[in-house]
Amino acid sequence: MTQPGSPNLKKQSREALYRRELATILRFGALVSSSLTIETVLDNAMKWAEEFMDAEASSIYELDEANNLLFIRLARGPKKEPVKGITLKLGEGVSGYVVQTGKAMVVHDVTKEKRFSDKFDRITGFKTRSMICVPLIVRNQPIGAIQVINKRSGKDFNRADLELLMSMAQLIAIAMENANLYQRMAEEIHSTTQELKVTQEKLIRTERLAAMGHLAQGLAHEIRNPVMTIGGFAQRIRNELSEGKLLKYVEIIMDETARLENLVKQIHEFLDVQSASLREEGVASFIDEALRKIEPRADAQGVRIIRDVHVEGLAILMDSAQVLTALYNLLENAVESMPNGGILTFTAQTEGSRLLITVKDTGCGIPKERLDSIYDPFVTSKTRGAGLGLTMVHQIIINHKGEIKITSEANKGTTARIRLPLQRG
Ligand SMILES: Nc1ncnc2c1ncn2[C@@H]1O[C@H](COP(=O)(O)OP(=O)(O)O)[C@@H](O)[C@H]1O
Ligand SMILES: [Mg+2]
Repeated sequence: MTQPGSPNLKKQSREALYRRELATILRFGALVSSSLTIETVLDNAMKWAEEFMDAEASSIYELDEANNLLFIRLARGPKKEPVKGITLKLGEGVSGYVVQTGKAMVVHDVTKEKRFSDKFDRITGFKTRSMICVPLIVRNQPIGAIQVINKRSGKDFNRADLELLMSMAQLIAIAMENANLYQRMAEEIHSTTQELKVTQEKLIRTERLAAMGHLAQGLAHEIRNPVMTIGGFAQRIRNELSEGKLLKYVEIIMDETARLENLVKQIHEFLDVQSASLREEGVASFIDEALRKIEPRADAQGVRIIRDVHVEGLAILMDSAQVLTALYNLLENAVESMPNGGILTFTAQTEGSRLLITVKDTGCGIPKERLDSIYDPFVTSKTRGAGLGLTMVHQIIINHKGEIKITSEANKGTTARIRLPLQRG
């Protein structure tokens, strides 16, 4: 048996202490690289540090480099809640000094330490007696500090405590840096994915519309001549007939042919907007013209138009006939959605380097499941519509390197927003 106080016992207990220390660090190291959240990792690490040193409280500070401020990343102990919002300036108090200089500090009695600031104790009512504070360093730069406060036994913090905390600081610094990097990466990936998704959707829509446009072009071309021939001969038969059933039948043929001719005409109009010749032109005039053109129909249907237009002196590179067509189609859809009257709100203003035009109605709205297909050709909910309006609008906006977005709620109304790049005057 070894006697208390003998050199052998001292050696043994020192060894035991180091073994315990090493085990703690290894456990902690394993935890750092596990998939737990950083908050849990930090909290466990500081809990172990407190247990190992028999301490009352501990905290981790993180440096906000941009503002030279230290804020509490983690607090443990009886006053951990009130501590959380408190910040220190770089250089303020023991922790501020440790982060500023990158040097650890062991304070046996805070009343004798001139760098000690009683700011925390004053706010929280806690009584700090002693502390040990170690900087967190990544690539030679302090990023914060860890601090353990008041040994319960009233004893001084010793060399073993300092060494343990310094070993822990290395791991904590890496863990915090990794977590910050991970979070930044996750945010970047998220926003890039969002952007990609939007671009992909736009691309798919544009491709689909182009393919459908080709189909329509071929169809219109094939239909056009036969329809005109049928119409022409029906006209001749009609001229030969004076009365009776046959005359009625021929008139039906003529009506239907006229409808087909009108469809072919609309397809040609749609084909006409496949490309544009752009010139720099003022914005105000085509807006006035589109609103003037829709007014009689709006009046007849009891639709009130509210306008909020701020476009003085603005110009865009445009094919003015096309932009007028696009705008008129949006206004027409809005008015047609309010057969029993309503309010059409029209706004135009700059938004950064673009012109933003909105056409908002209080009409029937578009059901969610149909919103995706409204730009497709021949999609219509109207008996007398060709369903080519929005297909054209979409193409025209693309011709002008702009954007269109239509949001809608069934039975509440629809808002169409178009954005066109402005010419810098
Ligand atoms: N402002 C709106 N309010 C309600 N529905 C709309 C509106 N704009 C477009 N729509 C829906 O989108 C369809 C396609 O519009 P469009 O391409 O202009 O063709 P059309 O007007 O000939 O039907 C419309 O038939 C309608 O169902
Ligand atoms: Mg329309």
